[in-house]
Amino acid sequence: MPTRWPTQLGLSAVLSAVATVAGKQRIPLHRVPRLLSTSNRLPGLNTDLSLETSNQFAYLVSIDIGGQDFMVLLDTGSSDLWVASSDCTTGDCAGVRKYSKTPSFSSLDTPFHLDYLMGNVSGTVGSETVTVGHFEVSSQVFANATNGLGLHGTGNSGIMGLSFPAEASIADTAGRTVVENLLSAFNDSSRRFFAFKLGRDQDSSSFTVGELDPAYANSTGDLTYNPVFTSAGASHDYWKLPLQSLTVNGTSFSLSKPRVAGAPAPIAVLDTGTTLILGPTQDVARFWESVGGARQTARGWEVPCNRAVVVGMVLGESKTQKEYTIDPADISWKESSVDGEWCLGGLQGNNGVFSADWLLGDTFLRNVYVTHHAATDGQPPMIGLRGLTNITVALAAFINDRGVDPGPPAQVRARADHTNSLTGGDICGIATVSGFVAGVVILVLVFTLTSHHRKH
Ligand SMILES: *[C@@H]1O[C@H](CO)[C@@H](O)[C@H](O)[C@H]1NC(C)=O
Ligand SMILES: *[C@@H]1O[C@H](CO)[C@@H](O)[C@H](O)[C@H]1NC(C)=O
Ligand SMILES: *[C@@H]1O[C@H](CO)[C@@H](O)[C@H](O)[C@H]1NC(C)=O
Ligand SMILES: *[C@@H]1O[C@H](CO)[C@@H](O)[C@H](O)[C@H]1NC(C)=O
Ligand SMILES: *[C@@H]1O[C@H](CO)[C@@H](O)[C@H](O)[C@H]1NC(C)=O
Ligand SMILES: *[C@@H]1O[C@H](CO)[C@@H](O)[C@H](O)[C@H]1NC(C)=O
Repeated sequence: MPTRWPTQLGLSAVLSAVATVAGKQRIPLHRVPRLLSTSNRLPGLNTDLSLETSNQFAYLVSIDIGGQDFMVLLDTGSSDLWVASSDCTTGDCAGVRKYSKTPSFSSLDTPFHLDYLMGNVSGTVGSETVTVGHFEVSSQVFANATNGLGLHGTGNSGIMGLSFPAEASIADTAGRTVVENLLSAFNDSSRRFFAFKLGRDQDSSSFTVGELDPAYANSTGDLTYNPVFTSAGASHDYWKLPLQSLTVNGTSFSLSKPRVAGAPAPIAVLDTGTTLILGPTQDVARFWESVGGARQTARGWEVPCNRAVVVGMVLGESKTQKEYTIDPADISWKESSVDGEWCLGGLQGNNGVFSADWLLGDTFLRNVYVTHHAATDGQPPMIGLRGLTNITVALAAFINDRGVDPGPPAQVRARADHTNSLTGGDICGIATVSGFVAGVVILVLVFTLTSHHRKH
């Protein structure tokens, strides 16, 4: 079923000034370290988890709301725009830039409430002039949030969600999402897309709206397209694709049956707001057993920092499926190492939280150029992907950096144990859990997922 956007007109969205000059659709995107905020932890959570030793990063974009600049987390795993309000006086938003009312603010007097796995954010819905890069939306709904933000020390003032309206907390009767507004600026429907590449350091990221970044793709022929997956009869909710299989050093590794009823293969969500790759615990355990040398600790799966393993994700419908390889440095994640010897695994297990099977966060997304297309007449929303990791180059750099791996080669346990698969009863919403929380506390998530299902 086609998603509601971009054809549906909201009540309040008017795009007043849109630059369509080539090269003007590029919006700076920065990778920044995040300090972990204690307020994001669940009460009673075992604080013994070695979170402090794990670096976390977030991809932030600068936006202007009513003439005030904010850094917000770019999040393809949620759908609302919210920023801290000057009405927020709790320690939660100490030290972050806050929105103050301007003459262009108009109150919609609707409460805003968003549940995250690790808490909740609340505030009030209003509308304002919002500028993203060269795009100005004269009346964009957003929430001025006052509670539960957990922003202290995070460097950002809120979140810009870029997922589908079906998952927005702000009702579509109040106004359209940022993505709907931005993409509706293009009369040429082939330009109704946004694209990004997540960088490995502060300024090597790219985020464009309505055009490709020539550093990563010059034409649609450079990308492979797949429709966004949705269950029959349901609205599109997240940027989802079938994940047909994994490969471990070239050997195919089959996955457990999908939890999502009617899905042709396990379903993966692309989510910039999540740090790692998360999948069903039994598949992830079999994955690390296949790699060999890994261990499971309170932090999750850890792997020797010199263990070189090439992982491929075979994504897309069976006719258009393609393998996207991941830099070994993303699988053995040194920025989160313990004494330089044990690195945090780029894949971690979780069960039962998602309306999907796998969550492909930054660990995966750094290896691809990805475009997100709105539905157009007669076409569902699409995802375009282009692999960017040259595995020969990446492997050589890894070995140069980490030294030779003395361990035995991988022994791939290719077959999934289907008798153990999860059932449809485990389907819950992935919702905003991934988005906000993950950049901040993904490691906490890994250990709390099983006990905190969202019920849908
Ligand atoms: C937040 O929104 C509410 C309701 O629209 C409004 O009363 C309040 O003044 C707003 N606060 C700010 C700082 O904009
Ligand atoms: C939101 O979080 C606060 C603080 O953790 C909690 O007291 C409150 O019950 C939560 N509200 C909802 C609706 O979950
Ligand atoms: C899109 O079409 C509308 C109505 O025909 C026109 O007013 C507007 O200038 C066009 N926008 C662009 C960017 O071409
Ligand atoms: C796109 O074209 C430019 C100019 O010809 C070239 O420098 C660049 O490498 C191309 N990009 C890709 C991804 O092929
Ligand atoms: C990867 O890089 C190597 C060395 O630069 C080059 O020879 C090879 O053609 C590249 N492979 C691909 C698939 O581009
Ligand atoms: C994976 O393959 C690479 C390249 O052949 C090799 O260097 C590495 O040791 C292999 N890793 C494992 C875990 O077998």
